Amino acid sequence: MKEMMNVNGKTILITGAAGFIGSNLVLELLRTNAGVHIIGLDSVNDYYDVSIKEYRLNQIEQLASKTQTSTWCFIRGNIADKVLIEDVFDTYKPDIVVNLAAQAGVRYSITNPDAYIEANLIGFYNILEACRHSYDNGEKGVEHLVYASSSSVYGSNKKVPYSTDDKVDNPVSLYAATKKSNELMAHAYSKLYNIPSTGLRFFTVYGPAGRPDMAYFGFTNKLIKGETIQIFNYGNCKRDFTYVDDIVEGVKRVMQAPPQKGNGEDGLPLPPYAVYNIGNSHPENLLDFVDILQQELIRADVLPEDYDFDAHKELVPMQPGDVPITYADTSALEKDFGFKPATSLRDGLRKFAEWYKEFYM
Ligand SMILES: NC(=O)c1ccc[n+]([C@@H]2O[C@H](COP(=O)([O-])OP(=O)(O)OC[C@H]3O[C@@H](n4cnc5c(N)ncnc54)[C@H](O)[C@@H]3O)[C@@H](O)[C@H]2O)c1
Repeated sequence: MKEMMNVNGKTILITGAAGFIGSNLVLELLRTNAGVHIIGLDSVNDYYDVSIKEYRLNQIEQLASKTQTSTWCFIRGNIADKVLIEDVFDTYKPDIVVNLAAQAGVRYSITNPDAYIEANLIGFYNILEACRHSYDNGEKGVEHLVYASSSSVYGSNKKVPYSTDDKVDNPVSLYAATKKSNELMAHAYSKLYNIPSTGLRFFTVYGPAGRPDMAYFGFTNKLIKGETIQIFNYGNCKRDFTYVDDIVEGVKRVMQAPPQKGNGEDGLPLPPYAVYNIGNSHPENLLDFVDILQQELIRADVLPEDYDFDAHKELVPMQPGDVPITYADTSALEKDFGFKPATSLRDGLRKFAEWYKEFYM
């Protein structure tokens, strides 16, 4: 097991703080009263319903106002704005940086590639540059950069479960290519400037106040309106669905244990660099997932008991950019951090359905 640093008194910059995973991470840090100073940064863009981002920010504000030991400050801005990022690092001097801001989504990258280049490449580059310059003039600088990668880097790899030792050179979407690029860029910066960095490959994250562009949320929106949902690859599709609290617990632990610095035989620094999978490691068939979602939507009173699901389901072929299975090998996460996501689909979808009822109905 890795040794965890004490985060008490640390300043943590979390980009994408109005996003699904980012907001939950902020809430968890505030809840556990770790005595941290959290700087949240997000452009609050309208890729999906902004009211959900505002709801998340409101939840954070409410909790932060009751928290004695930790502090919270929010900056609305774009990580692709280099001057802004430099300014944020100069002003707040973060000890830990968690970069979750990105243009997410596989399908959207087919129609809107520009957004991915801006946020995921230029934005991430700005974060790396700012980390690099955080050590200027003998300053202590950034102790750990943690950033979101994605299970999509595995492309259509046949070997399962997906291991971080596997070759990931064949992305099938621009989104995946930007995430793999982030890992490569982080490696170069870790090697050149000794920046401790950890990339986290998240596997299909779901939960309350999640992303409306993801299947479980989109299905719910459509079923309510009486529209037909499309199940891709005729339902022959398996996903390692991971509940958001499990992702947050993983990020929280990883954040506190930067990869060690050291020198190689050539006397030059070895890159303090790591990549981990965070997934449930228990892929579920898409049709089973839809089945549990339906039951939970009825249970939460989002849909009536006699809803005719069969009349609202259409089995269709696979979409460009999609992959048939995602399945995380999480042994490294377990070994180094003593943690393995374990929330069942039933429990997770129940919480989503209950939240949906409260938020929309
Ligand atoms: N949710 C998943 O299933 C999943 C899976 C794999 C990887 N990821 C990655 O995890 C991270 C968080 O994902 P999420 O599900 O919370 O997505 P999200 O879209 O809810 O959150 C991302 C946030 O980043 C903000 N943002 C986007 N571009 C920005 C920019 N240029 N500058 C500042 N803010 C910007 C958005 O406004 C949004 O609030 C992303 O990097 C995503 O690619 C998510």
